[in-house]
Amino acid sequence: MSSEIDKLLVTLTDPAARKGFEMEMLSFKQMFSRYNSGKEQGTKLHWAEISPPPAGQLVMYDSLSLQADLTSLNKLAVLKVNGGLGTSMGIKGAKSALEVKNGLTFLDLIVQQIQHLNTTMHIDVPLVIMTSFQTQADTIRVIKKYANDSVRVLTFNQSRYPRILRDTMLPCPRTAEDEGRSWYPPGHGDLFMSLRRSGVLEQLLSEGKEYLFVSNSDNLGGVVDTAILQHFIESDLDFLMEVTNKTKGDLNGGTLVNYDGTLRLLELGQVPFEHIEDFKSVFNFKIFNTNNLWINLKALKRILDNEGLDLDIIEKTRNLDNGEVVIQLETAAGSAIQHFKKAQGIVVPRRRFLPVKNCADLLLVRSDIYRIENGHLIPNDYRLFQTTPTIKLSDNFQSIDEFQSRFKTIPSISELDHLTVTGDVHFGRACDLRGTVIVAATEGQRIDIPDGSVLEDRLVAGNLNM
Ligand code: UTP
Repeated sequence: MSSEIDKLLVTLTDPAARKGFEMEMLSFKQMFSRYNSGKEQGTKLHWAEISPPPAGQLVMYDSLSLQADLTSLNKLAVLKVNGGLGTSMGIKGAKSALEVKNGLTFLDLIVQQIQHLNTTMHIDVPLVIMTSFQTQADTIRVIKKYANDSVRVLTFNQSRYPRILRDTMLPCPRTAEDEGRSWYPPGHGDLFMSLRRSGVLEQLLSEGKEYLFVSNSDNLGGVVDTAILQHFIESDLDFLMEVTNKTKGDLNGGTLVNYDGTLRLLELGQVPFEHIEDFKSVFNFKIFNTNNLWINLKALKRILDNEGLDLDIIEKTRNLDNGEVVIQLETAAGSAIQHFKKAQGIVVPRRRFLPVKNCADLLLVRSDIYRIENGHLIPNDYRLFQTTPTIKLSDNFQSIDEFQSRFKTIPSISELDHLTVTGDVHFGRACDLRGTVIVAATEGQRIDIPDGSVLEDRLVAGNLNM
C-alpha cells in the first residue's frame, strides 16, 4: 500500500501541495498499517471486561451548580465538526448549509449562537469550523457574510484519505488529483490531527484558550453551557463527554463504558456479533454519546506531542455508483476519551442533542414545534405536551430533494403526536396535522394531500375528497 500511495504524487508539482499531501498520506499509511495489524491480532474487545462507568466517572447534569464563574468563558473556544458527507440524506455538499428556518441555515444559527454569547457576556469566544474537501466551499459561502461581526470564525480542512478497493486492497485514486469519489473525510475523530496540522491548535493556545467545546454542526442543541464548563474546570478534567438517556431511536449509538479501569467509547462496530443485542439493550447501557465533548487544549497538545492519539479504527464498506466496493477507515472523536486520565461522562438533558440525521428530523426542526431565538432552537410553548411528535417517513422521502418536492410547505404539527407516511405521497401548502396521522400510498398509487388540509386522527389510504 505504501508504495502505491507514493505513486499518487506524480501529478503534484507545487512543492507546498506535495508537502501537504505527503503529510496527509503519512497519517493515512500509519492508520492503514494499524488496521492491518488489528486484523491479524483481532480488535474486538473482551465482552466480559466491559461494564457501565462507575459512580464518580458519570455525573448528572442536574447535580451541577448553576452559579458559574463567567470569566472562564475567556478561555473557551467552540469547534463544530462539519466535514461529513450527509450521505444518509443524499446531500452532496455540507448538510449545515441547508436552511433550517426563516432563511437561516445550520451554520447561520451556529454563528448567531456564538454572536449572542459574545455580545451578552462581552467576551470573544472564537468559532472554529472543521470542514472537509466536500463541505469547505459551502461553509465559506455561508460564513463570509459574518466577516465583520462580533464573532471570529476560523476554519480548517480535515484530512482527505483514499478509499481502498475491497477486492485488491489498493487505493482507489490513481493520482493525488483524482476525482472526488475516490477520497473521503475519515470521520470526526480526525479533528485532533487536523487541528494540530492546520496550526489552529497552536493559535488557540497562544491566544490563551484552554478549553474546547466540540459538537456536531447538525446538532442544534450543542450550545455552550456555562454550568458544564464550570464543572469541567472545577473538577480539573481534561476530557468530558456529554451522554444522554437512550430512547428507542438511539439503540445503535456509541455508549460510554468502563473497560479495564479506563473510560472508553464503545461503538456498535466493536461489539462481538454474539453480544450485539446486549449492546443495544437499555438494561445494560442506558446512555449514549451525543458527541458534545469538552477538551482541555493543553492536555490535548501534551498527548499529541508525547504518546500520540491512536483512535480505535472503524471500518466502513461502501458501494460506489460505478459498482466498485470500497473500504474506508474512520475514527470517532469520542474514542479519544481513553487517552485522557482525567476523564468523565456527564448525563445531560435531551435538549442538548437535537441532531438532523434524516428528513424526518429536518421536518421536526423546520416545523412550528420550534422557534428561533438568537440562533437557539426553542420549543414553542403553545404545545400541550413537551414531548416531540414521532415522525416516520418512508424511503420516498429519504433524499433531501425528494423531501423538499413532497412538502410544498412544512405542515403545522404543533398538535401532532404521531405521523407515518409511506409511498408516493405529496403534501400541499399549509396543511395541519393533528393527533395520529397515517398516510399510506400503495405500490403504483400517488396520494396528493390538498393545500390547507386539516388531518386529525386520520388514516389516509387514497386521495381525499375535500
Ligand atoms: P455523522 O457521522 O453522523 O455523519 O456526522 P453525517 O455527516 O451527519 O451523515 P452521514 O452519516 O454521511 O449520512 C456527525 C458530525 O460529524 C461530522 C459531520 O459533519 C456531523 O457534524 N463529520 C463526520 C466530520 O466532521 N467529518 C467526518 O469525516 C464525518
